[in-house]
Amino acid sequence: MLDNIKSLQAEVEKFSTTSLQELDEFRIRMLGKKGAVTLLFGDFKLVPPEQKKDLGQAINVLKNTIQDKIKTLLSELKHKDEGPSGLDLSAPGEPVLLGSRHPVSLIRNQIIDIFKRLGFNVSKGPEIEDDWHVFSALNFPPEHPARDMQDTFFIEQDPDILLRTHTSSVQVRVMENEKPPIRTISPGRVFRNEAISARSHCIFHQVEGLYIDRNVSFADLKQTLLFFAKEMYGQDTKIRLRPSYFPFTEPSAEMDVSCTLCNGKGCNVCKYTGWLEILGCGMVDPNVLESVGIDSQEFTGFAFGMGIERIGLLKYGIKDIRLLFENDMRFLEQFQNAL
Ligand code: DAH
Repeated sequence: MLDNIKSLQAEVEKFSTTSLQELDEFRIRMLGKKGAVTLLFGDFKLVPPEQKKDLGQAINVLKNTIQDKIKTLLSELKHKDEGPSGLDLSAPGEPVLLGSRHPVSLIRNQIIDIFKRLGFNVSKGPEIEDDWHVFSALNFPPEHPARDMQDTFFIEQDPDILLRTHTSSVQVRVMENEKPPIRTISPGRVFRNEAISARSHCIFHQVEGLYIDRNVSFADLKQTLLFFAKEMYGQDTKIRLRPSYFPFTEPSAEMDVSCTLCNGKGCNVCKYTGWLEILGCGMVDPNVLESVGIDSQEFTGFAFGMGIERIGLLKYGIKDIRLLFENDMRFLEQFQNAL
């Protein structure tokens, strides 16, 4: 019986066909009601108990080999007509998803592009900063309440190491390393210990701007920002500057643009004022210039800072900042054709 199994095993291994009909005949010959394997199982009943284990195993191996063989041959025969590499050339294609830039990157690139045209270069600084670059050099005295304007994530204390709360820290680094004239913008990520809501997040992005030279005036600041607002939101955009306070600028202002949705007529986005606040700015405080070794008698400058998310929310009419960080494809896909 074992010889019989062995010769069947060899026959199966040799077997090959290109015809479905032959394959079916093979199946019946082996596994059919009167097939070789079925007969073996019949004979197996008569085998003395001590041989049952070995023979039983051998028959099962044979049966599995046959089944595998039939499966392989069947799939080869099925795919034979489907083109050179076994692909079904008539099957519908699988869609290739097109990637798109994240809206925060889109807006950051637009901002960089606008200021580059005015001769600003791009500078970068670290996200983990020390107290000097984030606060002290920017004229925040120790214990001064102005530090509470920005809730800070501290990493270490004495000396303080922290996550930067604004990209104004980069202007300090640039002024420490370069001599005027300086004309730079610094895009980057910032961190604030704030509750996450539709309007604010604890991680977001800012672009800082800095221009230091002889005779830089508030008029230069205003004209630069007007150019930016028109390029970003359209040529009909108007701006207004409201007096404000920042430790590192004097005088300081906040800038509004005419509402991008209602063009200043009044709607629920601008709370019926016709205006939207988009950035803070001012003339660099002489104390800041002196703290980085720039002669404030000889040089003056302006600075400004804006949140990239906020600029984007207003540009694209997005109502909730959290959408920018959820990575929901249904949201992100809508920016495929955006500039
Ligand atoms: N750093 C300020 C903030 O995060 C924004 C800012 C305001 C930057 C006025 C400036 C500026 O350079 O002049 O709220």
